[in-house]
Amino acid sequence: MRGCVGDAFLELRDITKIFDGLIAVNGISLEVRQGECFTLLGPSGCGKTTVLRIIAGLEEPDRGEIYLEGEPLAVASRGIWVPPEKRRMGLVPQSYAIWPHLSVFENVAYGLRVRRVGHEAIGKQVSEALQLVGLSGFEDRRATALSGGQQQRVALARALVYRPSLVLLDEPLSNLDAKLRDQMREELRVLQRSTGITVLFVTHDQVEAMSLSDRIAVMNSGNVEQLGNPEEVYDQPLTAFVRDFLGDNLLLQGRVAGREADGNFRIQIGSTGEGGQYILAGESGARLKEPALGQEVSVSVRPEKVKLSRGTAPAGENSVSGVVDGLLFIGDRYECRVKVGADKLLVYLSRDIRVEPGEKVFLSMPKEGLTVWPR
Ligand SMILES: Nc1ncnc2c1ncn2[C@@H]1O[C@H](COP(=O)(O)OP(=O)(O)OP(=O)(O)O)[C@@H](O)[C@H]1O
Ligand SMILES: [Mg+2]
Repeated sequence: MRGCVGDAFLELRDITKIFDGLIAVNGISLEVRQGECFTLLGPSGCGKTTVLRIIAGLEEPDRGEIYLEGEPLAVASRGIWVPPEKRRMGLVPQSYAIWPHLSVFENVAYGLRVRRVGHEAIGKQVSEALQLVGLSGFEDRRATALSGGQQQRVALARALVYRPSLVLLDEPLSNLDAKLRDQMREELRVLQRSTGITVLFVTHDQVEAMSLSDRIAVMNSGNVEQLGNPEEVYDQPLTAFVRDFLGDNLLLQGRVAGREADGNFRIQIGSTGEGGQYILAGESGARLKEPALGQEVSVSVRPEKVKLSRGTAPAGENSVSGVVDGLLFIGDRYECRVKVGADKLLVYLSRDIRVEPGEKVFLSMPKEGLTVWPR
């Protein structure tokens, strides 16, 4: 059958959705593997919920195809369309709104009643789902007499009660306070691992995405900009958007002064003739066509890769000098602003290193951690 390719559990091909002339989803293709936690990560309005709703069958794509375990769920060109209740998926929508006037049991049982599942089966499936989310014994509680985290679990149980092969979670932790979010994140991961259930998770929070996911698709304006495991997308961003969305960056302006035999770029920091500082940058990550000699570029590095030292230039290390411009105490560390040429870089500093404003310091950074981007 068409669609039975590779090890794709869920496959999207060229999924496109246009709302009133606005392209909300722009030809997305991706494969989710069985048993993995796959995350759509991106800023507000980039199309995450729309993709999820299309997969769940709540929205029809204008173009493209969806397959679950090789079976077509939607093929726009052939008029194939499987309704949501026949898709074997559980969805926890962005506003998970549980019914306040119903008990926990009835909240979870509701969908099964609508589908006319038998009395006994309902009892069994509901208690199974409540056990999975740690709410056994809460059956008779009013939904309003639950904490935020418990309500979140009811919403999750409501999706799990269908014994779905795929669970779709739309920003399930965003309504919780920071501490509860950490706890639920941990619980979700354990639940996903222990049940082997396939999870498609949506979030705009990069820490959440990186800590929960086996693989991440980073979305921007209806497109997938990069797909890979958390380390890949963090360490080897393919676009400036992915680079900046996934964490802090230090950016040094410069121009290409040469290329080493081993492929590293030799970058002159600042404008030509000024200062005469050079730094080596590996090309790893940046999807850049060979930058030309003399081309203006930005060199990017993650703050945790930068080491600050005082005194003389550290021998044998890839480093530049700068001047301490300011110091900020933020609890577990200092954040130190260092002026290098015209650029100000924010460097993390452990509490045992003391520097003074105006002091000359050196910033060392491994060339493999530096990427070169066109300006
Ligand atoms: N039913 C609709 N009618 C018209 N436009 C819509 C509709 N649903 C979504 N959109 C638009 O499509 C785009 C993508 O919306 P979507 O809800 O998928 O974004 P999102 O990534 O989930 O954002 P958020 O993080 O804020 O939830 C937005 O510009 C939104 O305004
Ligand atoms: Mg959304």
